[in-house]
Amino acid sequence: MDIVNIDLGDRAYQILIDWNIDFNQHLEGESSKSRMAVVVTNVTIGGLHLNRVVGLLARIFENVRVIELPDGEKYKSWDSLNIIFSSLLNWRCDRKTTLFALGGGVVGDLTGFAAATYMRGIPFVQLPTTLLAQVDSSVGGKTAINHPLGKNMIGAFYQPQMVICDLSTLSTLPDRELRAGLAEVIKYGSIADLAFMHWLEQNLNAVMAKEVPALAHVVRQSCEIKAWVVGQDEKESGLRAILNFGHTFGHAIEAGMGYGVWLHGEGVAAGMVMAAELSRRLGLIDAEFVCRLTSLIQLAGLPTKGPVLDANDNASRYLELMQIDKKAEAGEIRFVLINGPGKAVVRTAPDSLVREVIDACCE
Ligand code: NAD
Ligand code: GLY
Repeated sequence: MDIVNIDLGDRAYQILIDWNIDFNQHLEGESSKSRMAVVVTNVTIGGLHLNRVVGLLARIFENVRVIELPDGEKYKSWDSLNIIFSSLLNWRCDRKTTLFALGGGVVGDLTGFAAATYMRGIPFVQLPTTLLAQVDSSVGGKTAINHPLGKNMIGAFYQPQMVICDLSTLSTLPDRELRAGLAEVIKYGSIADLAFMHWLEQNLNAVMAKEVPALAHVVRQSCEIKAWVVGQDEKESGLRAILNFGHTFGHAIEAGMGYGVWLHGEGVAAGMVMAAELSRRLGLIDAEFVCRLTSLIQLAGLPTKGPVLDANDNASRYLELMQIDKKAEAGEIRFVLINGPGKAVVRTAPDSLVREVIDACCE
């Protein structure tokens, strides 16, 4: 088993990474504090992985309850949050109840926010089942729901007690979802670890074939980079923003197309090419690195061009959507840019240059 530590003082926790994790021994601390475990999942994952998880939890918790929500980004909402709160209240859950988020980033973000706010905070454990959730969303304590006016706009920083990345859950993950997760993996290489980027260039086929050692390497390496960043800047007052490489353009794509049409990772993939091209036009990197990144994204079967969001004035539509980004300050959009291979920086860019990049990078 690989273990990555998130060093956050009294909020420190571990990420466990292995195939078919019998996680009970690691949860003994939890079960001695809580009698009740509540698993939040969705109908798709419920049908595939819930029985095993409930079986394991029933061995150590007196009472195990399940909340099964519909599947989809649109259920990362106030309504779903209220369903969770109503169940917890109806079941008389107290502050010692532990919530378990069994699913991808949607279930993880929603359940984390429920845990942050129910009775002003109860313990929760992440059981991520998508590659994206194992390498990114389950780690670092960003929890949120969407608002009709913006994605992830209502939320809290709230760290889990533990993250359990059972690689065996990825065996049922559709290929498109696996590829979407790879966008975040490629992100880590390009912003923080060139050796990892090189490893991906050599081993991407093994990852896409879900070979266990390759999956384990990808999850561990990604979590280590994220742990390094979050350990220095938990609440994104500086460094952590680099984890949003590709996300400013990517969020505009997701919102502009309508949530769910492009997956988060697909938007991030095209967004990384756009951000890299912007970096090149600002003189921060050379064309060779843009080509290298674009080729890796292509190799992962991900889009390298953004969609046209408005046939009349595409660049203005992107700019309008990017204003809602959480990194924007006083209406000014701040981009995560590549500042030399394997290094990132957050800064503004002239609108005229951003427009040129959008025109060049969309089809
Ligand atoms: P998701 O949670 O919607 O899961 C994708 C799809 O795969 C869903 O249909 C789900 O039911 C299905 N699925 C999940 N696990 C499966 C499995 N093992 N087998 C078969 N099907 C499975 O999407 P996601 O890509 O995991 O997460 C996207 C969300 O994560 C977005 O809401 C995004 O905003 C959020 N996110 C959060 C952070 C963070 O730091 N908190 C970081 C990145 C993304
Ligand atoms: N996914 C970006 C972050 O966790 O900060």
